[in-house]
Amino acid sequence: MTNNNSKVWFITGSSTGFGRILAETLLKQGDRVIATARKPEQLEDLIAQYPETAIGLRLDVTDKAEIRTVIEKAIAAFGQIDVLVNNAGYGLIGALEEVSDEQIQRNFDTNLFGAINVIRAVLPMMREQQSGHIINMSAIAGFTNELGFSIYGGAKFALEGVSEALHGEVAPLGIKVTIVEPGPFRTDFIGRSLDRAQEQMEAYQGTVGKFVNFLNNIEGKQPGDPQKAAEAIIQVVNSDNPPLRIVLGKYAYTKFGKKIESLTAELDAWEAVAANTDFE
Ligand SMILES: NC(=O)c1ccc[n+]([C@@H]2O[C@H](COP(=O)([O-])OP(=O)(O)OC[C@H]3O[C@@H](n4cnc5c(N)ncnc54)[C@H](OP(=O)(O)O)[C@@H]3O)[C@@H](O)[C@H]2O)c1
Repeated sequence: MTNNNSKVWFITGSSTGFGRILAETLLKQGDRVIATARKPEQLEDLIAQYPETAIGLRLDVTDKAEIRTVIEKAIAAFGQIDVLVNNAGYGLIGALEEVSDEQIQRNFDTNLFGAINVIRAVLPMMREQQSGHIINMSAIAGFTNELGFSIYGGAKFALEGVSEALHGEVAPLGIKVTIVEPGPFRTDFIGRSLDRAQEQMEAYQGTVGKFVNFLNNIEGKQPGDPQKAAEAIIQVVNSDNPPLRIVLGKYAYTKFGKKIESLTAELDAWEAVAANTDFE
């Protein structure tokens, strides 16, 4: 059964964590969901529970050809996509010098280019229907980065930059864009999903090493509840005036505020220099 305001959601990375819980929550409340995952067999139980409103499709977001095919299949099945959730992603921990070329490339291919390519594949349809909402899962590290997250946070910063401009480009077309910035949430993010530098250099033990220890110690005890995150995302999509950015969790909220304070202080401290570089 679908509810009266039933929407069609397309979610990447629905095997575990935020993607999986969001799909479950939406299906429970009567929305239709195209859940995608690299291993679609992980979605079988969910699809069996909601055979009329759920579809499970294989999608690796680093495979551009597969993105096109999957979007076509999704539109053929439900006729529309109201909400796209670019959720697929994972962390890479290590100093910039410690991580490998291949690790850097794969992280950007997933967290940044994967999301960009899915957005570009969905936009023609959203433009035609003159409505839609694109949710981009960033991270608090995509607004204020951590030592050891140069690449992961860098990819999320880039995703936020893309999202900011996209937000303005598509607003007149009836399409909304929201960036989600969670702090630490209890998903598989730190456990099985986190990619780590192969070797730890002594030179970074006092900086990056501290953040590695923080992640290792917080695993399984992260303050963020992914069920509540899913409900917050649904609330954002249902709101008349959705925000461009939403932070999730007190950790992220505090860090976001501190970054704004430090940016303002630095801007003010260097105002005279900045203002003196224009032609007379
Ligand atoms: N949990 C946190 O603390 C936290 C904080 C900030 C931001 N985030 C962001 O939240 C998003 C979801 O992560 P999560 O916390 O729910 O962790 P998770 O439980 O590890 O889920 C990550 C999901 O992304 C999928 N994925 C990874 N690479 C993919 C690819 N190339 N193609 C398709 N799917 C891929 C994984 O699929 P497989 O099962 O095949 O690996 C999995 O479904 C990520 O973008 C992450 O950066 C998480």
